[in-house]
Amino acid sequence: MATVRLHRIGKKYGGLEVIKDLDLVVEHGEFVTLVGPSGCGKTTTLRMIAGLEEITSGELYIDNYPANQIPPKDRGISMVFQSYALFPHMSVSENIAFGLKIKKYPRSDILEKIDWALSLLNLEGLATRLPKDLSGGQRQRVALARALVVEPQVLLLDEPLSNLDAKLRLKMRAELKRLHKKLGSTVIYVTHDQVEAMSLSDRVAIMHEGRLAQVGAPLAVYNSPHNIFVAGFVGSPSMNFFNGRLVRKDESLVIDLETFQLVLPERYRSKCTGCLGRKVILGIRPEHIYDKRLSKTESYLGNTTDVVIDVVEPLGDRDIVEVKKEKICFTALLEPETNAAPDQPMTVVFDMTKCHIFDMESENNIIHSP
Ligand SMILES: Nc1ncnc2c1ncn2[C@@H]1O[C@H](COP(=O)(O)OP(=O)(O)O)[C@@H](O)[C@H]1O
Ligand SMILES: [Mg+2]
Repeated sequence: MATVRLHRIGKKYGGLEVIKDLDLVVEHGEFVTLVGPSGCGKTTTLRMIAGLEEITSGELYIDNYPANQIPPKDRGISMVFQSYALFPHMSVSENIAFGLKIKKYPRSDILEKIDWALSLLNLEGLATRLPKDLSGGQRQRVALARALVVEPQVLLLDEPLSNLDAKLRLKMRAELKRLHKKLGSTVIYVTHDQVEAMSLSDRVAIMHEGRLAQVGAPLAVYNSPHNIFVAGFVGSPSMNFFNGRLVRKDESLVIDLETFQLVLPERYRSKCTGCLGRKVILGIRPEHIYDKRLSKTESYLGNTTDVVIDVVEPLGDRDIVEVKKEKICFTALLEPETNAAPDQPMTVVFDMTKCHIFDMESENNIIHSP
């Protein structure tokens, strides 16, 4: 196990800057996920850590040693590629043994380690098969076994579950988590899937256009996104955003959305008074908008509005409900007991204790600034 530190890492392909000023520390034994939309630079970052891609600027440290110039094979790093990259002409055992043979391990050690890896990843019985005779999930496990058998200081995983069907993805997600608990390795994981990132990681590093938008524990980024990008990326269905203006009304601060107004909780007042009169963006998650009929509490007084239901998607445990208020459309995640039906009226409650206010220009969160 080792720590990995990226200090102001940059990457250019010709004149094109794809990674900008990346600062990240991954601690000993930590599971950190780089997550972001396709093309934001996740694979490039992972390949630079592995030594498969030259670092244009900045320094990489592995266990506090400068590592920019260390050849890939001497970094103590194993990487599982998105395509798995198994050798097609080699059996499962031979694939797993490959790295050990290169490192010239004695034959008896190699056999012992193959057995360990086969059993760890439930591949017993498949040792002599060729990759073409395995299912996607089995190939994925062979790739993982091949990476783990060399006892890497750091394990890098590039979208390892993206080729699996939804059900197997869930199963492998739990297996990866179990494996990490058991081995305690330092893991840097890459995915474009925010749910996968949130469910697996000690911390998530959210990337946007080659930069880090925010790094933190899953719940911290969910509860306190620092900017609109993170707010919209984390959480499903995505956060609703409304254009508005902060104004004073009697003793309160309200956000004026033109068609209706919402009162800000007392405790946000000090953070927001500086923005009085300014245009802002209100962010509120679908799970923080309720059906008034089902929400008994009085504390939402004044933060209700009448809407018309557009579309209802029943999920069983929740209904995803698209609603309309004149020109404004937004999403609410309601309890299945709701009577919501298309084209019917409903009164919804906004839980403003859970809201976010973003500066329209900087797109930073005024309530949860870093
Ligand atoms: N070898 C390359 N030459 C030029 N551009 C590249 C190369 N590899 C990746 N890129 C560009 O770098 C950006 C980041 O790519 P990548 O790291 O693969 O993104 P991700 O893994 O997040 O989808 C993309 O715009 C991609 O087109
Ligand atoms: Mg990629």
